[in-house]
Amino acid sequence: MGDGANVDLVGHVDAVAAPGGLVGLGRLTESIMAMEGRRTSIINELRRGRVASWDEIGKACGMTRQGATRRWSRQAHAGSFGAAAEAYRRGRPGYPQSAVEFAVPRRARRVLDLGAGTGKFTELLVAAGLDVVAVEPSEEMRAQLAAAVPGVAVRAGSAESIPLPDDGVDAVVVAQAWHWVDTALAVPEVARVLRPGGTLSLVWNVRDHAEPWVALLDNVLHQHTRQEIDTEPVLPSPFEQVERTEIRWRHTLSRAELLDMVASRSYVIVLPEQDRTQLLGEVGELLDSHPDLKGRDALSMPYITRCTRALRA
Ligand SMILES: C[S@@+](CC[C@H](N)C(=O)[O-])C[C@H]1O[C@@H](n2cnc3c(N)ncnc32)[C@H](O)[C@@H]1O
Repeated sequence: MGDGANVDLVGHVDAVAAPGGLVGLGRLTESIMAMEGRRTSIINELRRGRVASWDEIGKACGMTRQGATRRWSRQAHAGSFGAAAEAYRRGRPGYPQSAVEFAVPRRARRVLDLGAGTGKFTELLVAAGLDVVAVEPSEEMRAQLAAAVPGVAVRAGSAESIPLPDDGVDAVVVAQAWHWVDTALAVPEVARVLRPGGTLSLVWNVRDHAEPWVALLDNVLHQHTRQEIDTEPVLPSPFEQVERTEIRWRHTLSRAELLDMVASRSYVIVLPEQDRTQLLGEVGELLDSHPDLKGRDALSMPYITRCTRALRA
């Protein structure tokens, strides 16, 4: 950066912090957060278009490649869903009814679906007659959700910054999304919006590899990258009385829907075009050649839904 730009920047920072004291500190903090947000969106754009390597991004941010990936690669994956929102809506499974019954206590009325995506869990909460608010960071996912679950309250936000008042909901459900959040910020933020005694539930659908063709499919999917997800996470204070359950069920889907399920995985969305095409081709070959799959109109995918619930002290 040239000297002139440096002088401008220092002048800008001085102007923002001008009142000094707590007011200046608050204004400076807001400004830093806005800049952080912009930095993250530039990094996401660079990674989506494969325009810069993590090495180059690290250098531009004054840190090492490892530092940059540690800090932003999860965010880049977490922010990738919008690019495949339609495939997500078509290809991803819903959840079994018993997962809703485990996740939401009978006495609950007002429920927050956090990281609601295209509304796969939201629609079950609405069908159960609950007063639901869905919070989701991706604009494209929110658009799919609003179309799929008409009339539900949908808000832009994240687990780290929930646009709801204190003690406002009886239950919070996070389906297939807790692994994307920064738990140091999300735990106190969820506790803030939950009334004391309210329930936080974390839910994941996991493909059941006991079925041989599912194990083969996962070998194909994981040859490029594998995301290890802790589906039995520890929930710190103020959450207590943690309980867990597993539900086995099957999701029926067509060949095209299975390909959409693959295309909507975050690690597939962020692959370079050539690798993504190759991977989808290999999945197509498996579908055409495996004796349990070839020629079938309807495929039956076995899932295990893992649920964790805890009470807010
Ligand atoms: C795998 S999808 C799950 C969507 C939906 N809950 C479902 O079960 O189909 C993960 C969602 O988490 C959202 N997400 C990513 N980071 C998040 C964060 N920090 N807070 C809340 N949601 C986040 C993504 O935009 C995406 O819609």
